[in-house]
Amino acid sequence: MKVTFLGHSSFQLESGAFRVLVDPFLSGNPKAAAKASDLNPTHILLTHGHGDHTGDAEDIGRRSGALVITTFELAGVLEEKGLKTHPMAVGGGHDFDFGRVRVTPAFHGAGVPGGSPAGFIFRLEGKAVYHTGDTGLFSDMKLLAQLEKVDLFLVPIGDNYTMGIDDAVVAVDFVRPRVVVPMHYNTFPLIQADPQEFKRKVEARVPDTKVVILDPGQSLDF
Ligand code: NI
Ligand code: MN
Repeated sequence: MKVTFLGHSSFQLESGAFRVLVDPFLSGNPKAAAKASDLNPTHILLTHGHGDHTGDAEDIGRRSGALVITTFELAGVLEEKGLKTHPMAVGGGHDFDFGRVRVTPAFHGAGVPGGSPAGFIFRLEGKAVYHTGDTGLFSDMKLLAQLEKVDLFLVPIGDNYTMGIDDAVVAVDFVRPRVVVPMHYNTFPLIQADPQEFKRKVEARVPDTKVVILDPGQSLDF
């Protein structure tokens, strides 16, 4: 599969006919690596309702007809705006045409009344990708890693709203993925972080995990 970092927490994962887009924050993102109008996903995964995650989901979803997979409350809001949605909740899993999606907990705000923030462990080509969404560190990441052997871990390092570098290194130690890619940093002044520092600290503590730093627009063949 091809994994493209679009900036902030947004990734597009492509495999065959499937284009899975996560948290498409492009318009208004100074580091965005794509224009919303250039994307034509088959599925959109939204971790929570904050604007730096829902971003262009409404426009992209309406134009492409992509199925939006997200939490129940956010799905309700988007359904009313005419998007095609599949509502889920933390702890639940579902088999989609591209693979299974499990909704994971996140410690953060929901961005929508009554909702909960989330992350996803989803499978594409049988490989497990864990996108944490915005979250602080929590030790049940260890439990999740027992349930699903994580191949690719997408983890925030920007601090202030999410884990910073040191907590993210502990998260990598809990999850023990094959590859980790840092996200949610350097988009705004409040979330400045040095990904090279993250890389050094992961390599020292979890040498079996490979750290791949992607600039917005860069892809990884995985
Ligand atoms: Ni957020
Ligand atoms: Mn955020």
